[in-house]
Amino acid sequence: MHPAKAGLTENKKMPSKKLIIANWKMNKGLVQSQQFSDELKSYIEKHKVIDAEIILCPPFTSLEAVNRKFNGTAVKLGAQNMHQESIGAYTGEISAGMLKSCGCEFVILGHSERRQYFNETNALINKKVLKALDEGLKPIVCIGENLQEHDDKLTEPVIEEQISVCLQHVSEEGMANVTIAYEPVWAIGTGKNATAHQVESVHNFLRKKLKKMYNEEISKNTKIVYGGSVTPENAKELFAPQTVNGGLIGGASLEVDKFVAIINSAH
Ligand code: 13P
Repeated sequence: MHPAKAGLTENKKMPSKKLIIANWKMNKGLVQSQQFSDELKSYIEKHKVIDAEIILCPPFTSLEAVNRKFNGTAVKLGAQNMHQESIGAYTGEISAGMLKSCGCEFVILGHSERRQYFNETNALINKKVLKALDEGLKPIVCIGENLQEHDDKLTEPVIEEQISVCLQHVSEEGMANVTIAYEPVWAIGTGKNATAHQVESVHNFLRKKLKKMYNEEISKNTKIVYGGSVTPENAKELFAPQTVNGGLIGGASLEVDKFVAIINSAH
């Protein structure tokens, strides 16, 4: 089949496209974010061969600027975190409504760095997931085992607990807007990615769990992406299994060349 000429035009007919999410973490000020967006935009307009769904998650301070660049195109905007309440005296926090007002459609929740450095628990992440859905944002829920748990062969019980608690009270309808990101903590920023086989087996385990929690359809249709040291070199292999719907990219999403190479290896 001829590759879809997605370009910057929205194409809602291809749900099986891989999903490539850029998590810039605490990188890029306003000017750098605008430069990246201009470069990515001109690449997409020039080549028009990108057959993937792209979501950019810049820091809060660049959301509006990136939105201005891509508003109305197939490139979507996401935030990296949000508060679990809608409004109030929470100095320094950002609400779902604020994110929506900047053009966000998605929000990353429960990233391991939020869990590790800001003490976010599964119960708190669950509150955020419910709030995001309630306010019309699509959560990208991160789960994954740490190195000790990995070495102790506890991956399955750990992610089972994470997914059960993080998705508590999320309805079947709500699940249509939830993406799960499997990010083994030992693979994040370490240059040590999980193997395609490991990723495939964890994703299959998660789908079995979703079937138990919901039903066959949700187990099949929920997007599950992999994150952790994805590079242009390993992306093709990691995204090859059908059960892997794409990737959540940290370091390699900061440079347009590398990010585009990852996008291009997704089809
Ligand atoms: P790296 O791609 O830098 O390992 O980061 C992965 C990640 O944490 C994405 O959310």
